[in-house]
Amino acid sequence: MTSAPSVPAEVPVPAQERAAVVAAADTGVYRHLVLAAPAASRARPGQFVAVAVGDPTSSAMLLRRAFSVHRADPVAGTVEVVVAAHGPGTAWVCARDVGDVVDVVGPLGTGFDLPASGRLVLVGGGYGSAPFAWTAASVPAGVVVDAVAGAGDAERLCDVDGIRAAVEATGGRLHVTTDDGSAGRQGRVTDALADLLAEPPASAGTATGVAACGPMAMLAAVATTAGRATQGSGRPVTVQVAVEEAMACGIGICMTCVLPVRGADGRTRMLRSCTEGPVLDAERVRWDCVGAHGASVPADAVGAPEGGAA
Ligand SMILES: Cc1cc2nc3c(=O)[nH]c(=O)nc-3n(C[C@H](O)[C@H](O)[C@H](O)COP(=O)(O)OP(=O)(O)OC[C@H]3O[C@@H](n4cnc5c(N)ncnc54)[C@H](O)[C@@H]3O)c2cc1C
Ligand code: FES
Repeated sequence: MTSAPSVPAEVPVPAQERAAVVAAADTGVYRHLVLAAPAASRARPGQFVAVAVGDPTSSAMLLRRAFSVHRADPVAGTVEVVVAAHGPGTAWVCARDVGDVVDVVGPLGTGFDLPASGRLVLVGGGYGSAPFAWTAASVPAGVVVDAVAGAGDAERLCDVDGIRAAVEATGGRLHVTTDDGSAGRQGRVTDALADLLAEPPASAGTATGVAACGPMAMLAAVATTAGRATQGSGRPVTVQVAVEEAMACGIGICMTCVLPVRGADGRTRMLRSCTEGPVLDAERVRWDCVGAHGASVPADAVGAPEGGAA
């Protein structure tokens, strides 16, 4: 699949650091934390940090929790996260306030491949939209960024004002969807994405890329929608997805986060989404083997047990 040339990106080296919470606020159902973490502040859009939670002698709190970087500022030495209380680990993070100190490892994983020209459409579901104001502000001049931010309801939309301002600064627009219609258009992010991709490009030859972040089912639906748009218009749409597979270590050791991904040679391998992702080429992910509770090993994957595996 052809794509616009991208901006060469330097890969920052991760480090473990004790990070003071320098600002904290509740916004909708989310807790927004600004952490003084100079190493993690060198993150690129799409990368994540892993935060140690609570009492490490409690088995429920043993593992670090992964959070996408909402924004990073290497000059201020800060990294920001937006967290939804889900279970014990995220509840602990959401209870942090100014002056608390958290143990952070980052920046981790791969970032988005930002285009050097053309059009980029950002698609976020719930807190999956967290990195997108920063992503839109990071593209080179001349790239037009549109965005679709969706959620179950208005309270679960994330950083709508920040994303709107950042995409409008590039000449693009933000489209909001909610499942219940409590804000924006009632429906799924893919409804708005399909309409956006059906629009003719501003000029002939303008490449369109999509970058998406959200629940796995949404990412699979975004890949399908972009595939249909490519077939319908004959204009290829490349899709990068920041996957959110369960990550126990975040640094490539434990293999809890593996996903089946087709390589350039056409063969499927189980890749660690924490180190070889979380940003992956959607066209290469074997969505047929990815479920709500993790991925299965396709029978034709390199190294798959005889007769396939569950
Ligand atoms: C790359 C990435 C980016 C993410 N970004 C965000 C974000 O920006 N904002 C946000 O709110 N959430 C984000 N998440 C989801 C967040 O990491 C989970 O909601 C969180 O780990 C859940 O922990 P919990 O203790 O609250 O919940 P629970 O699911 O109740 O945890 C229960 C048990 O599961 C274990 N466990 C928890 N998480 C994992 C895991 N990842 N792998 C293996 N075992 C685990 C815990 O040890 C615990 O014992 C992201 C996840 C990933 C992988
Ligand atoms: S989370 Fe441990 S290898 Fe990816």
